[in-house]
Amino acid sequence: MSSRVLIAAFTFVILTGYQPVKSQSNSSQNDRTFHGFDLVDKAGNIRKPADFRDLYQALGVYTPVDLNNNTEMHYTSASPGTAEYYRKTGKFADGTVLVKEVFATDHAQMTTGDAHWATGTKVWFVLIKDDKGRYPGNPLWGDGWGWALFKSDAPDKQVATDYKKDCLSCHIPARSTDWIYVQGYPVLKSK
Ligand code: HEC
Repeated sequence: MSSRVLIAAFTFVILTGYQPVKSQSNSSQNDRTFHGFDLVDKAGNIRKPADFRDLYQALGVYTPVDLNNNTEMHYTSASPGTAEYYRKTGKFADGTVLVKEVFATDHAQMTTGDAHWATGTKVWFVLIKDDKGRYPGNPLWGDGWGWALFKSDAPDKQVATDYKKDCLSCHIPARSTDWIYVQGYPVLKSK
């Protein structure tokens, strides 16, 4: 290739942000962004996305500290495209997946101060946005979401039974933002 061709190719990549399309095994091209329903069977049973640590985008982290000073870190990540869609529309797209991974922590004096870091995973909370009320008879679906919980002793086993009992009351303070604690997620804010 001549250097002129190379320069033209680089310029194209830089100007257009062109990226070769990666193939996705289990979702169609148009649908690859908000693929939450790939994780759901006909009855509405929810699986945890196996690949979320590699493929999902980070939304933010909460670090609750209890009265004994025990600290957890709650990392929330979202299926690709979530933040861009939210900044444009103020909504979570149908099929958006949110995963909150709850970590135990450790801490020590470091050169920055008393530094805390995430250690082992305790549980994963999963939400799948559902605009259409797809599973009306299933107690894990309602108020615009599918709600699920997985614990680290059996990471593939969904253990929530009724989102109204297991989840909803704790999310009432976030009702006006579609039940999501968006204030902790800087990437959702338009700059
Ligand atoms: C004890 C109260 C409580 C319960 C029970 C609870 N949540 Fe939450 N959840 C919160 C709070 C508070 C946050 C944000 C702050 C944090 O993580 O510490 C949150 C955050 C989340 C997030 C990250 C997105 C967001 O809203 O910020 C997901 C996903 C989530 N919860 C799903 C669930 C699901 C699914 C259930 C039921 C299986 C559930 N939660 C039960 C209190 C609760």
